[in-house]
Amino acid sequence: MRIDVDYDDLIPNNVGLSDDPRVKKALEKWHPGYIDWWKSMGPEGFQEKQVYLRTAVGVDPAGWAQFNYVTMPEYRWGILLAPKEEGRTIGFGEHQGEPVWQEVPGEYRAMLRRLCVIQGDTEPASVEQQRFLGQTAPSLYDMRNLFQVNVEEGRHLWAMIYLLQKYFGRDGREEAEELLRRRSGNVDKPRILGAFNEETPDWLSFFMFTYFTDRDGKMQLASLAQSGFDPLSRTTRFMLMEEAHHMFVGESGLTRVLEKTTSKMRELGIQDPHDKRVRDHGVIDLGTFQKKINFHYSVTLDLFGSELSTNAANSYNAGLKGRFQEEKIDDDHRLVDSTYAVLRYLDGEFKMSDEPALTALNGRLCDDYIVDASKAFKRWNRVLSKAEIDFELSLPHRAFHRNVGEFAGMSVTPEGVVIPEADWLANESNWLPSDDDMQWIRSTMNQVVEPGEFASWIAPPKTGIDNQPGEFEYVKLN
Ligand SMILES: [Fe+2]
Ligand SMILES: [Fe+2]
Repeated sequence: MRIDVDYDDLIPNNVGLSDDPRVKKALEKWHPGYIDWWKSMGPEGFQEKQVYLRTAVGVDPAGWAQFNYVTMPEYRWGILLAPKEEGRTIGFGEHQGEPVWQEVPGEYRAMLRRLCVIQGDTEPASVEQQRFLGQTAPSLYDMRNLFQVNVEEGRHLWAMIYLLQKYFGRDGREEAEELLRRRSGNVDKPRILGAFNEETPDWLSFFMFTYFTDRDGKMQLASLAQSGFDPLSRTTRFMLMEEAHHMFVGESGLTRVLEKTTSKMRELGIQDPHDKRVRDHGVIDLGTFQKKINFHYSVTLDLFGSELSTNAANSYNAGLKGRFQEEKIDDDHRLVDSTYAVLRYLDGEFKMSDEPALTALNGRLCDDYIVDASKAFKRWNRVLSKAEIDFELSLPHRAFHRNVGEFAGMSVTPEGVVIPEADWLANESNWLPSDDDMQWIRSTMNQVVEPGEFASWIAPPKTGIDNQPGEFEYVKLN
C-alpha cells in the first residue's frame, strides 16, 4: 500500500518545493525506498519508540531547531539551504571573482556529481555502522544522542539527494538509487570510503567515530561550503550547523569516559595507565582508550586521500571545492605559482617538502584537520592530571597505520619511528585494539535505560539536552 503524503508538509524546506513539481515528484518517488532503507538499516529495535529529537525547521542560527517526541520513521527530514548571499562571487581558482553558479556548469558536471555522491555516501553509511548501538546504550540520554546523530545523517543524505535530483537529471536519479543500494561493510556493494566500511560495534567506538570521523565530515563540508556552485555551498553551510552536535557527542562522550576511568583509578589507588585491573570494576583502561584513539585517527586520516592529488587540484581550479576557511587565508586564492610544505618520507627520513600548492590541497586539509582534532587533548589530559595520573593521551604520528597516501603500507610506530614490518606486527596489539580488547569492550557495555542512570564506564553529562533535567525520559521505551 502506498501512503500518500503531503510532501510540502512532510519535508520542511526552504527551496520552494511546492513550486518545483519535477523535483517534488522525484523526491516522492525516492521517499518510499528511503523509508525502507531506514527501517531495515536504521536503529535496530527502536523504530516504534518515541524519541526526544530536534528537527531542523528553519535556517535562522538563533532558532533553527525544534525539540519534540517523534518516532524515527516519522522524523521530518527536511531540505534546508543556508540563505542566499546576494552578489556572492567565487572565492578561488580559475573563476575567482565571477558570480557563483546557480546551475551546474556543463564542463564540471561529472566532477560535481562525484563530490555530491562521495559526500552523500558517508551519511547513510554511518547510520548503518551504528544501527545496533541502541541495544547497548549506557543511558537514555546517550541513546537519544545516538538517534539524533542518526536522523541527521539521514537528513544529510536528503540534502545531497536534493542536489542530485534537482541538478543532475537522469544521472542524478540513478546515483540517488545507488546511494540506497550500497551497504557499509558489504563485500559486493560496499560504501565508497574505507572508514565507512568499518564496524562501529560499541559505544567507545561510537564516541571515537563522532569525534574523529565526523570531524573529517566537518572539514569536507567546510571545503564544499566554499564552492562556486551555490546550491552546494548553501546546503553544506547548513549541514555544518548540525555537524557541530555530532562532534559534541563525541568529545563530551570521551570526556565522560575519562572522568569515570580516572575517578575509579583514584579510588583504587591505581596509577599505571596500562593496569587492566580497572576493567574488573567496569571502566575502560587508559591503555585501551589510547589504542582506540590510534585506530580511529589513522583510519580517518586515510579519508583525506593522497596528500598530493591532481583531483584535488582540479576541483580547486574549477572553483568547486575550496580550502578550509578559504576566506581567512591571505594569498591569491589561485595557487598557480605557490608551494605548500608537505610531510613526506624521502631518502629514509620524514621531512617537509615544498610541493605545488594546488597538488598539495589534500595534505593541507589534513593538516587543518589535525589541528582541529588536537584541541580536545588538552581538556582530556587535564582530566588525567587532575586525578594525578602521570600519563598523557596523544595523537599518534601521522604515518602510523596508514593505508592511503604518502605513508601507505609503511611500518611506523605511534611515535613516528620506521621499523621492520615483523617488529611492527609483533607490537600491533600494543598500539591498536586487539580482538580481545574489542571483545572486552563489548562485554562491558550493557544497556541502561532507567531515566537518570548511567552505565559503569561513563559519567553523567553536566547538562541535559535542551536543558532537560537529569531524570528526563529522552526515549520512551514502553
Ligand atoms: Fe553528516
Ligand atoms: Fe555527522
